Amino acid sequence: MKLNALMVQKAKSMFPLHRGRRLRTNESIRSLVRETSLSPTDFMFPMFIAEGENVKVAIPSMPGIFRRSIDLTVEEVKEIFALGIRAVNIYVKISEDLKDNTGKEAWNPNGLMQQAISAIKAACPEMIVMPDVALDPYSIYGHDGIIANGDVENDSTVAALVKMSVSHAQAGADFVAPSDMMDGRVLRLREGLDAAGFQNVGIMSYSAKYASAFYGPFRDALDSAPREADVEVPKDKKTYQMDYANRIEAIREAVWDVEEGADMVMVKPGIAYLDIVREVKNAVNVPVTVFHVSGEYAMIKAAAERGWLDNDKIMMEQLMCIKRAGASLISTYFAKEAAIILNK
Ligand code: PBG
Repeated sequence: MKLNALMVQKAKSMFPLHRGRRLRTNESIRSLVRETSLSPTDFMFPMFIAEGENVKVAIPSMPGIFRRSIDLTVEEVKEIFALGIRAVNIYVKISEDLKDNTGKEAWNPNGLMQQAISAIKAACPEMIVMPDVALDPYSIYGHDGIIANGDVENDSTVAALVKMSVSHAQAGADFVAPSDMMDGRVLRLREGLDAAGFQNVGIMSYSAKYASAFYGPFRDALDSAPREADVEVPKDKKTYQMDYANRIEAIREAVWDVEEGADMVMVKPGIAYLDIVREVKNAVNVPVTVFHVSGEYAMIKAAAERGWLDNDKIMMEQLMCIKRAGASLISTYFAKEAAIILNK
């Protein structure tokens, strides 16, 4: 008691006892005590692939992002590699006549995805290629799996995803990135890849993927949103993607995926979910990836176009905050723009 009173007395005589501003005096000292840093190797660049040649189609809700044919994708990959980016996520838009309820085009060895993977690996062998594993771009219903009895059927979908992943590995993928949220798929993917001789192909699992309206622009880019159909289909993805009211469930999903053999886990979306990122980071001992998704990109671009926000400053702030929250890797449509700034 006495000591406390003395300390209070001393503190009062020394106001202010602490001067936190000393460490913020100038950029040099700030740089010395900065707790988090960003580099181009923190980023993965999501890329949309189109059929054809010399095709480059702008995506209206994602200014600066394009759907490119494989030849132009390869050029872009070389460019971003030179900027220091070392990973790409790839997504394809295939023609409607190739879509059905089984998603079988997804494991066509000569499919658009398989061709894209091998073309990128041939042109830029050191680029880590992580194709998306989910049936939505291949589904006539715009769902991530096979529809039966009014919902996405789990186990038959998982079997399809195994075939899809093995075909990605055969095409040269370094990792597969299941984004479908089916139960047990990481275990089956690991078994399937190993059985096919692909022990070194990794799994980056979208573990805590929420049913989010932030994916809107992505679904525009691939024309992959759930659609009206002649049979009963869910109108959204809430029977497989997570309820955004939940936190503990995210930890459970991430832990399960690590137990099943995931080399990395992901939390998605990013900025509105950084509490989840930190929880997952504390719960698992594999690298945590965060997907800074299409809607987050669109919001910044829209505000910047109006002059309401500064694109570059908001971009760097958000990316730094995602890293600070615990991300080892950030999948972001800003990867190239941010790398250019970081290289200056
Ligand atoms: C497909 C998939 C989606 C995204 C990544 N993989 C869309 C969805 O689940 O509906 C979203 C990415 C983004 O919004 O940037 N399963």
